[in-house]
Amino acid sequence: MAEHKLGIIMNGVTGRMGTNQHLIRSIVAIRKQGGVQLPNGDTLMPDPILVGRNENKLKALAETHGIERWSTDLESALEDNHNIIYFDSQTTVRRAEGIRKAIAAGKHIYCEKPTATSLEESLQLAKLAKEAGVKNGVVQDKLFLPGLLKLKRLIDSGFFGKILSVRMEFGYWVFEGDWQEAQRPSWNYRKEDGGGIIVDMFAHWRYVIDNLFGPVRAVSCIGATHIPERIGENGEKYTCTADDAAYATFELDGDVIVQANSSWTVRVNRDDLLTIQVDGTEGSAVAGLRDCKSQHRVNTPKPTWNPDIENPFDFEAQWEDVPGNQEFDNGFKVQWELFLKHVFANDPFPWDLLEGAKGTQLSELGLKSWAERRWLDVPELKA
Ligand SMILES: NC(=O)c1ccc[n+]([C@@H]2O[C@H](COP(=O)([O-])OP(=O)(O)OC[C@H]3O[C@@H](n4cnc5c(N)ncnc54)[C@H](O)[C@@H]3O)[C@@H](O)[C@H]2O)c1
Repeated sequence: MAEHKLGIIMNGVTGRMGTNQHLIRSIVAIRKQGGVQLPNGDTLMPDPILVGRNENKLKALAETHGIERWSTDLESALEDNHNIIYFDSQTTVRRAEGIRKAIAAGKHIYCEKPTATSLEESLQLAKLAKEAGVKNGVVQDKLFLPGLLKLKRLIDSGFFGKILSVRMEFGYWVFEGDWQEAQRPSWNYRKEDGGGIIVDMFAHWRYVIDNLFGPVRAVSCIGATHIPERIGENGEKYTCTADDAAYATFELDGDVIVQANSSWTVRVNRDDLLTIQVDGTEGSAVAGLRDCKSQHRVNTPKPTWNPDIENPFDFEAQWEDVPGNQEFDNGFKVQWELFLKHVFANDPFPWDLLEGAKGTQLSELGLKSWAERRWLDVPELKA
């Protein structure tokens, strides 16, 4: 039984997603569990090199998590043949450049979404990777949330009959940074820095919808910048140039209608930060991040409209929890393990840069629909 060390360049790893989800919850966790097991008993052991601009931050991060290699020199990390994978979780505007360099150096690519801020650039990355013959993947973490896995199980079982409509509510209040610190980086609120909720969240909605409910056919979207000024990490006021809320409707193959509200300017009065309600002819379900509850046709109560009396129904109590029936690991880690097996053992990994480009396509069409105040078709995308 052999251990195969896989050199991975991790760029942007000092950021929020890079540190928490990709380094600590994924790569460090995989190293601690003894690597990724292959069917023949061999193991894949990630051997990361942390790359970034700030020596002190990288050194501290590496020491805290028992990582031997870190560098501020991306070029030499790319030249080193031991490193076979390039991972990127930098801010979105910096991603394409990093990926282009890594493809040119013959590295396999794994990265955060969105892959770029324009469809043209996202598609170019997919094409370059294909031409170079390097393996490539994009984070599609929401597919691995326990709540969505339970929902997928209901879909696969035929529970819903014909799915009619889907309502997705995503969001929470992101503090403005004046009397309480903001819980998201300030670039998220500046278009010129790759910010905006449409660019950010439609990249998720594309793969969630395509993978669970069917291909998106058309989009109608209104965005808004509800909060015009915020206070940044440096304590200075800045103008918000990007959308902080989006109200969209998608039409899917099979005439399924999906409504999706995405907002960093909403206060939560629902089960979770993301809830997805699916209504079908035979039953309905509401999925959150971890939980999913269902109501079958035969358990559906019969309310009548009568505001003259107190509401006789406890609507919340009329839903049943969908059991886990399995252990759910961190979604980012699960996807990392699949990608490592894809690189080393050729296991299937369908979420490539072309799938990532589809996310950017939906964001771009959402922004265009808002600007032009009209419905837009979503054309099929090919690399
Ligand atoms: N999958 C998800 O659920 C999810 C959630 C949030 C963010 N993201 C994506 O992850 C990416 C990072 O987001 P974040 O919230 O971690 O942002 P962040 O601002 O916390 O981190 C950004 C990283 O990029 C680096 N960086 C920024 N400017 C740089 C420069 N000029 N030169 C070199 N490095 C630079 C920073 O040092 C940091 O390591 C974004 O593309 C975002 O869209 C994905």
